[in-house]
Amino acid sequence: MNKPTFYVTTPIYYVNDVPHIGHAYTTVAADVISRYKRLSGYDVFFLTGTDEHGQKIEMAAEKQGITPKQLADKVVERFKNLWIKLNISYDKFIRTTDDYHKKSVQYIFKKMMDNGDIYQGEYEGWYCTPCETYWTETQLLDGNCCPSCRRETTKLKEPSYFFKMSKYQDALLKHIEENPEFIKPASRRNEIISFIKEGLRDLSVSRVSFKWGIPVPDDPKHVIYVWIDALTNYISALGYPNEDDLFGKYWPADFHIVGKDILRFHTVYWPTMLMSIGVPLPKSVFAHGWWTVEGQKMSKSLGNAIDPSWLVDKFGVDQIRYFLMREVPFGLDGDFSFKALIHRINGDLSNDLGNLLNRTLGMLNRYFDGVVQPYVVSDTEDDRIADLIVSVFKDMDRYLLDLSFNKALGSIWELVSALNKYIDTMAPWNLAKDPSKKDRLGSVIYVVLDGIRALSLMLYPFMPGTALEMRRQLNTKREIFKSTFEELCKVRVLESGQKIGEVKQLFPRIDEENLQLEIKKENEESKHSELVDYDYFSKLELRAGKILNAEKVEKSEKLLKLKVDLGSEQRQIIAGIAKSYNPKDLVGKTVAIVANLKPAKLMGLTSEGMVLAATSGDRYYILELPEDVKPGSVIK
Ligand code: MSP
Repeated sequence: MNKPTFYVTTPIYYVNDVPHIGHAYTTVAADVISRYKRLSGYDVFFLTGTDEHGQKIEMAAEKQGITPKQLADKVVERFKNLWIKLNISYDKFIRTTDDYHKKSVQYIFKKMMDNGDIYQGEYEGWYCTPCETYWTETQLLDGNCCPSCRRETTKLKEPSYFFKMSKYQDALLKHIEENPEFIKPASRRNEIISFIKEGLRDLSVSRVSFKWGIPVPDDPKHVIYVWIDALTNYISALGYPNEDDLFGKYWPADFHIVGKDILRFHTVYWPTMLMSIGVPLPKSVFAHGWWTVEGQKMSKSLGNAIDPSWLVDKFGVDQIRYFLMREVPFGLDGDFSFKALIHRINGDLSNDLGNLLNRTLGMLNRYFDGVVQPYVVSDTEDDRIADLIVSVFKDMDRYLLDLSFNKALGSIWELVSALNKYIDTMAPWNLAKDPSKKDRLGSVIYVVLDGIRALSLMLYPFMPGTALEMRRQLNTKREIFKSTFEELCKVRVLESGQKIGEVKQLFPRIDEENLQLEIKKENEESKHSELVDYDYFSKLELRAGKILNAEKVEKSEKLLKLKVDLGSEQRQIIAGIAKSYNPKDLVGKTVAIVANLKPAKLMGLTSEGMVLAATSGDRYYILELPEDVKPGSVIK
């Protein structure tokens, strides 16, 4: 029999940033649902990847003096390594620079064009470069600032292709109204419905202002707008337009899991694009909430974006996975704090779950030499546990289908508590005193062990490593993956007669004070490691240089080509200051130069040194020296 299929995706992440807990959150969520579906008999396809085109990436690469592809190659490794560390079981990792993806995007663009849904025009708007978004005048804040990041926007006009998104407004509204599952959670639906009702405008879908992207078919001056490129990943990864293979099998997606920041792209741009090319819409787009750290927005400039890889090293992978899924209802905003994390680890994991396993296996070792006894003497309390196991499986299934991870874990913990309570009520230590109750003693411990077996299945999606370790300690040989949900729910199926494995503590307790000291020490050490000694500094050759000539570098918005007099020689220096300086204003100025940098190539031109400049926001201020400083003078 063919297994039912399940297709889930994460957003593809930009490569101009390194991964932080926000990215880890979405990806762990997708992993949990994938693992649950595999466990209960589904054929799952789980897709993640990276979004590698666009101006932001072009700019980030330019800043580092490397090509966008080199930057992407570097950052992709960080994402992939993190996914290994977080035990993410994706089936495919897509990169938008992959050839098959580029072909698929061009195919779709052409198909939209052939259907008469794309026309040429001119786009004018207030453009925010960091957000890669045009805004209308009425949306701007404080004069001309971006309503999203509050940085200054620039008025831009450029030739552009447009997608007739407005044509699909009514069809989209109808779809959303007829399919309550399409946008989740329900609270987000209304937001999107009112946005659509305000009237959809046509969408500018190409740019001529930068190069790093997929060219428009037959008009390569234009690159395809990043969102068209990025959204296509969900079907190009399945081989679209080849409909036979994976696409035929897995599309439409069951869930696109995204952060609330990009819901509109997924529930307006994406479905209208799909309507235009005649592809069915995904079943559900789920927008989760936003994480802050210790009450603050995470950002590069605040330096508080927590590195998930460090967290895993410090606390353990399953501890982090558990915390992310348990702490905040999926869909609402949440805050990451060490206090809350430690509370969860010491309370839920160490005290409740870890202790349950430890005390039960300890008793089996003590009373039965570690050999699991058959279930022979029953009691109505035992049936209550059996019923609870089945009902927790059912709750879990219901909650997980709605991505209510924290509720599913809440139900699982009801079973953890019930088993701990069952032990207290049955008091095996009293039964052990009476040799005639030996069979009942064996049965009581069996009931708890079978409960722990059920827990290992329930926990597998959330904490796969822990679940497998629990099964190793139980020494069960039963297959973890089931063919149906009914199979999953079966009770009293743990084998008897086997000797359990070596007992190990699952979750060591964390001492908050020690941890804080450790973190403080690490911070201090990393500060020290950033200090350089005088010898190191003295290797830099800083000199005064007089600018003899300055001109713009063709096809670059940021670069200037300078000819600089260094006293004994003249150098060509390519400087990224074109947005802050007019070339002619630079001629004659004496500036500070790093004179012994290894030559580098920028846009095909050799740069033999660097001009020093202070940065303030997006502006550069070169370090200008008085006229009497002779070219070539040493700066120290
Ligand atoms: N490249 C686009 C997505 C294209 S999908 C076709 C993009 N990339 S991103 O790198 O900015 O990732 C955004 C996603 O990262 C969010 O939608 C969310 O899944 C996750 N998060 C980033 N920061 C987050 C928080 N602070 N909190 C929760 N999730 C966050 O947008």
